[in-house]
Amino acid sequence: MVPIVRSRPVMPVRVWRAFRSRGVEYAWHKVLRRSLSSRPGWKRRLLYADPRKYWTLRGGDDYFREQEGQEARSLRADWIAERLAAYRPTSILEVGCGYGKLLVALRSRLDIPLAGIDFSPTQLEQAQGFLQPGHDALLILSRGERLPFPDQSFDMVVTSAVILHNPPEVAGRIRRELIRVGRRFAAHNEETDSSYNRYGYDTAAWYRARGVVLAESGPIPMDTHPAASQFCVALLRPGE
Ligand SMILES: C[S@@+](CC[C@H](N)C(=O)[O-])C[C@H]1O[C@@H](n2cnc3c(N)ncnc32)[C@H](O)[C@@H]1O
Repeated sequence: MVPIVRSRPVMPVRVWRAFRSRGVEYAWHKVLRRSLSSRPGWKRRLLYADPRKYWTLRGGDDYFREQEGQEARSLRADWIAERLAAYRPTSILEVGCGYGKLLVALRSRLDIPLAGIDFSPTQLEQAQGFLQPGHDALLILSRGERLPFPDQSFDMVVTSAVILHNPPEVAGRIRRELIRVGRRFAAHNEETDSSYNRYGYDTAAWYRARGVVLAESGPIPMDTHPAASQFCVALLRPGE
C-alpha cells in the first residue's frame, strides 16, 4: 500500500485557519513568531513586551500538541516528578503549571494535595482538559509574583521553565513569593540560556548567594543542551 503523506498547508492557509479558530490577534501573533526568527531583538519587543499576553496567545491547543509531540518532554516531566517524589513532600504547588504536564506526572506518584497556578487563561483551560476526570489538583489563574496563598501553605513549591520567562525584577519577586509560600522545599527546572522569550537565570547560584542550602543541583540527563540545563532543590528551613 502506498503510504499517505500529508503535506503541511501553505502559509496563507495556516494563517486563515488560525484566524478562523482564534481571531486576528492570534493569527498575527503566529505570523510574527514564524517570520521573525532572524530578528530576536524585534521578536522580544514585538511579541514579548507583555509575557502574560504572549502566553495567552501562545498557550492552548497549539502549544499542547507541539509539546506532546516531543518524547523528550515526557521523559523530562517523568524524571522531575520522580526526583520530587523522592523528597516525600506532603503538598505541592506548581507555579506556571501550563497545561498540567508535571501535575499529571506527580499525581501518578503521589497521593497528596496538588495545586497549579498560571497567569495564562488558555494554558489553564488546556489543563482542565488534560487532567483526567477525577484529578483533584486545584488550578488557579494567578501570577507567580503575587501568590494568593498564606505563608508556608505548601510543603514544596516547584517551577519548571517559568522564572526564566520573566524579566529580572519580576523573576526576583517570583522567587521571593516561592520562599514565602513554600515550607520545606523549593524545586526548579530553569534553564540558563536566553532567547527572545527567555531571560535565562542561574537559580542555583541565586540561592547559594543568599546562603540557602541546596539538596541537589545539576543538569537534567535527557536535556539536549546540558550546558544550559539546571534542576535544583533548595532546603528552605533546614533547621526545622
Ligand atoms: C514554558 S511553559 C512551562 C509550563 C509547565 N511548567 C511545564 O513545564 O510544562 C511556561 C508557563 O509559565 C507560565 N508563566 C510564565 N510566567 C508566569 C508568571 N509570572 N506567573 C504565572 N505563570 C507564568 C506561562 O503562562 C506558561 O504556561
